Amino acid sequence: MQKADKVAELISKCMQARDMAYCPYSHFPVGAAILTADGAIITGCNVENASYGLTVCAERTAIQRAVVEGHRQFTAIAVTCDVKDRFVGPCGACRQVLVEFGSNWTVYLTKPDGTYKETTLGELLPLAFSPEDLAK
Ligand code: THU
Repeated sequence: MQKADKVAELISKCMQARDMAYCPYSHFPVGAAILTADGAIITGCNVENASYGLTVCAERTAIQRAVVEGHRQFTAIAVTCDVKDRFVGPCGACRQVLVEFGSNWTVYLTKPDGTYKETTLGELLPLAFSPEDLAK
């Protein structure tokens, strides 16, 4: 499959995941789709809770699913929400959780119409604290 087709699939799947969001409190659905090094796509949506602080973001839902399914190497993530007039990035907590698995990911910040801004995790979280920093 061509790279452009894979990106289109990733974008499409993050929008499908957004439609599954459980967000009765914020009414702010978010979808994420992670592309693994071996070409699999794993999705996530935000899952809120009546105890608000227990909410899990779409990106973290996706990475936790991916790890459970045996993936630890990732090349890209697409994220989308319902904001139409600008590109919205992952929250700081999610950036940190993603960087656990490297900073060399492409990140596609995706609007509801499918247009996207391409960046990298390294750009979104410069000078990150990462597993290498634990080496004594
Ligand atoms: N949210 C995400 O799913 N990902 C982010 O990166 C930012 C915020 C969710 C959490 C909450 O359910 C809703 O968006 C509003 O903050």
